[in-house]
Amino acid sequence: MEQLSLGIYGSGKLGTAIAKRAVSVGLDVVFALKHFNQTNVYHCPKTGFEFAPPSVIANKDLILLAIPINNLDTLDSTFFKGKTVIDAMNHWPPEIEESEEWPLQEVDTSSLVQEFLSEAKVVKTLNHISYHDLYRNDKNGQRKQTLMMAGDDLKAKQLVRRFIEAIDFELIDIGPLQEGIHLQPGGKFFGVDFKREN
Ligand SMILES: NC(=O)c1ccc[n+]([C@@H]2O[C@H](COP(=O)([O-])OP(=O)(O)OC[C@H]3O[C@@H](n4cnc5c(N)ncnc54)[C@H](OP(=O)(O)O)[C@@H]3O)[C@@H](O)[C@H]2O)c1
Repeated sequence: MEQLSLGIYGSGKLGTAIAKRAVSVGLDVVFALKHFNQTNVYHCPKTGFEFAPPSVIANKDLILLAIPINNLDTLDSTFFKGKTVIDAMNHWPPEIEESEEWPLQEVDTSSLVQEFLSEAKVVKTLNHISYHDLYRNDKNGQRKQTLMMAGDDLKAKQLVRRFIEAIDFELIDIGPLQEGIHLQPGGKFFGVDFKREN
């Protein structure tokens, strides 16, 4: 089967941890340039990663959002048309203060992301694990870590499953996108380390 390609918005703690895990299993990974007027592809000798404009990211099989969620509206939604997008973002202080507009436990943020990227197929996952745990080595006979996903589009969820299993996690589908509220800060599955019984 052909290897998946991944475009990532956000080369911070989470984006880098996921990228390293993906590269270690042979996936093609490129980060989005933050300054969208640039048209070249850049190679970072220190990390080995490539940075490319949104038009290049739009050609990848999957796009991962790992930026502060209040930067969402800096993205150009036209580059997300028809794409499967993993929303790994959370809203919590100090990124966003709790307020009437953002009551931390009541707003289903992935549905807001879906609303903004209306022509994309948004799947929520990878937001409920700490980036430290993405560096955990489970190759020594230890059990695999389990992630969860929520999303409305079945094909998009199949693609995300391929990716998540390729980077060596188990994955539980918890249903439609709005169920993702259980995966975000304050939700019952946030930060929970599930263990499969058999
Ligand atoms: N850290 C975790 O363990 C963890 C776990 C689960 C979920 N999350 C979520 O993942 C997201 C990122 O968290 P983080 O801890 O990785 O934050 P971080 O270390 O601050 O990294 C965020 C990165 O996004 C970049 N960025 C901001 N706007 C961008 C844009 N429009 N296009 C491209 N890149 C952009 C930032 O660049 P500049 O530095 O140049 O601004 C920075 O490199 C947040 O929503 C967070 O809630 C984090």
